[in-house]
Amino acid sequence: MAEALKSGGIRGRVIGVSIAAALGGFLFGFDTAVINGAVDALSSAFDLGVTLKGFAVSSALIGCAIGAWFAGPVANRYGRIPTMVVAAVLFFASAVGSGLAFGVIDLIIWRIIGGFGVGAASVIAPAYIAEVSPARVRGRLGSLQQLAIVSGIFVALLSDALLAGVAGGAAEPLWGLDAWRWMFIVEAVPAVVYGVMALRLPESPRYLVARGEVERATDVLTMVTGEHDVEAKIVEITGTINTERKESLRDLRGHRLGLKPIVWVGILLSVFQQFVGINVIFYYSTTLWKSVGFDESDALTITVITSVTNIAVTIVAILLVDRVGRRLMLLVGSIGMTVTLGLMAVAFSFGTVDAAGEVVLPEPWSTIALICANGFVVFFGATWGPLVWVLLGEMFPNSIRAGALAVAAAAQWVANFFISTTFPAFANIGLTFAYGFYAFFALLSFFFVYFKVAETKGKELESMTE
Ligand code: GLC
Repeated sequence: MAEALKSGGIRGRVIGVSIAAALGGFLFGFDTAVINGAVDALSSAFDLGVTLKGFAVSSALIGCAIGAWFAGPVANRYGRIPTMVVAAVLFFASAVGSGLAFGVIDLIIWRIIGGFGVGAASVIAPAYIAEVSPARVRGRLGSLQQLAIVSGIFVALLSDALLAGVAGGAAEPLWGLDAWRWMFIVEAVPAVVYGVMALRLPESPRYLVARGEVERATDVLTMVTGEHDVEAKIVEITGTINTERKESLRDLRGHRLGLKPIVWVGILLSVFQQFVGINVIFYYSTTLWKSVGFDESDALTITVITSVTNIAVTIVAILLVDRVGRRLMLLVGSIGMTVTLGLMAVAFSFGTVDAAGEVVLPEPWSTIALICANGFVVFFGATWGPLVWVLLGEMFPNSIRAGALAVAAAAQWVANFFISTTFPAFANIGLTFAYGFYAFFALLSFFFVYFKVAETKGKELESMTE
């Protein structure tokens, strides 16, 4: 990977710095996925009904929305690095706290606290990476965050399966605690690594200029980009930032619809990214695979295959994004997602309910659904998954970046919460309805990008306008 990135002539330093910042994405992926393997065991340990069980899963997402919202002001006031360190501390506390929870209430509180960390990391990684990267490779470096997210999802799945495997079940004891508790506790390890690495990162040059620390900004830019002639760049950055006054959420206000149009574009990109239903595939994968004829144990294998596919296609995105451009990739992604989701909706209209109350599909529809579900992950993972994060990091002008990104990311977490909590109800109405709904939003996303999203490939952050 480093080689591929270097072929564009990027310094190792900026790659290293971006990877360290992207680690926040790893914790994001890990933390959102870890609950899957633990939820059944913890719900029997605490004797939870369906509602509390659902809330134990989704509560973290509410924390994420809050964490994202506050990350903007915190990053503007105290800097990008302290925000990362706070996120790392929150991850650590949540890992240990959830693992040692006495009951469901404190478990939910610890999950929400971890959510604050995930939300903050989801804002700070794209902002920071965009702010240190040279324009011509910013897409690739920004996509590292998605690579980290999907790797985090994958590692959480493996670690859950491994711990349950060693203990002989998630509810069985292991080294003095139930295995499900270890599933949370192990997250403390990447949290410490992230915190230590964040402390060693240089502060973002754009943030330093905003604070009037021009000399330090010059040093950082010289060091990360390896270019000697950064003076002109600093002058340019200064021209786009109001150094007299701190940015606040009020700066996002616009005349029409309450917010500046660019902020709406960010919010809608986020909402579409979630409304195509990607996380339903990840959070409810077992149900999906069972309906196409696999049993519980095969279902894990397929989930692993899907995760690996997601990682592989993210690498494809990294290779393409700065050549092909954001817009074309998003448009292709929208078409691919519309077709695959649409076919899934059709496939499920042939489903029947078996004695156990599970939906089963006849051939050839079960094969079609299986191929389409994975095809959907391919289209999403190569386009909308990474590119929305890249765009959110780079599309806003310097003067409003952190705040606008925070609002858009918070909207994304709310949308994620909505889609994941409504899925069981949607599925009750019928899977054709559920996938049809996601397909409809995939189709809308095409028109949205076509009419409203501008190409940012190769453009300097200083030339992003409202
Ligand atoms: C993107 C989405 C996130 C999702 C992931 C899956 O990062 O923002 O919600 O879980 O892709 O690939």
